[in-house]
Amino acid sequence: MDKVNIIPCGPDRMDELVAFIARMNDDPAQHVAYFGVGEADVRSTLAEAVIPPADGFYLAYENEKLVGIFGVDADPEIGRAWLLGPIIEHDAWQQIADELFNTILPVIPAGIREHELFCDAKNVNVRQFAERHQFPSRGETAIFSLERDAYNRHPIPAHIQNFQESYFNSFERLHNELFPNTYYTARQMVEKLDDHHRLFLATDGDKLLGYHFCKTESESGYVDFIGVDSSARGRGVGVSLLASGLDWMFAAPTTTRINLTVNAENDSAQSLYKKFGFVCERVTIGFRKTLQG
Ligand SMILES: CC(C)(COP(=O)(O)OP(=O)(O)OC[C@H]1O[C@@H](n2cnc3c(N)ncnc32)[C@H](O)[C@@H]1OP(=O)(O)O)[C@@H](O)C(=O)NCCC(=O)NCCS
Repeated sequence: MDKVNIIPCGPDRMDELVAFIARMNDDPAQHVAYFGVGEADVRSTLAEAVIPPADGFYLAYENEKLVGIFGVDADPEIGRAWLLGPIIEHDAWQQIADELFNTILPVIPAGIREHELFCDAKNVNVRQFAERHQFPSRGETAIFSLERDAYNRHPIPAHIQNFQESYFNSFERLHNELFPNTYYTARQMVEKLDDHHRLFLATDGDKLLGYHFCKTESESGYVDFIGVDSSARGRGVGVSLLASGLDWMFAAPTTTRINLTVNAENDSAQSLYKKFGFVCERVTIGFRKTLQG
């Protein structure tokens, strides 16, 4: 192998970074799950990063040719970092991955205790990388998508409403119970609410039965969280919440498809999604390492 130079992305190489990720991520054996598929998805993932990608990403070049990238994002509030990659096109995959890894580690802010990786289950290189660096597996996740043409509408009953602060405590309690330790806190979701982020609530008087937090990106929508209190399940609340969010996301003419991820073993949620026309596109595997000390 010729000498590989590793350099920070910086603002000037953003287009090259996006094009490389989009091209490589098309192949399941190279796919890193955070980025989605296509340049628009890659750009919107990068735009959401807390650490600006120009600072968080490093590029590996061999004889002026881009052969690999690896980046990091982190949220000090929840103490977690996401390792975005590695994506490498080279026979010395693991060696270049390690060099990039050593370069991006110092970018992670102090106080971060958890590091996550997330790739297509067919990405053998990232799986081996995770194993060598002792990242425990968190199991498999299915990625579902729904094309506009395949959307099977369901009626929405009256008890679905937009978020109101009076339900915040119940919402926070339910979110922490259903999704402990996840990537957005209840407060973070509420703070994000705007023209592109909605939080639907299913209520019965003062009682919160369930919620659905979803968002629209440039060409797609995303179901972030949907949950129904265990005492209210099996009565159509999940259908109503999902229908409200899907109708809202597809009301944006730019939304061509809606994506979501779900635990590969969560049969009840998967059958809910299939009722609306969602299909499983990909199975991914996540890894999370908790740092000691
Ligand atoms: C998934 C969840 C939101 C469904 O909510 P719900 O209000 O019980 O769902 P509904 O009563 O509207 O049921 C809708 C469909 O979901 C599926 N479903 C719901 N519960 C199910 C179960 N126990 N087993 C199999 N399918 C089930 C069925 O397809 C059902 O349609 P059907 O009644 O015509 O068969 C709820 O179980 C939940 O909050 N689970 C915990 C959080 C979670 O896993 N969220 C999804 C993570 S991405």
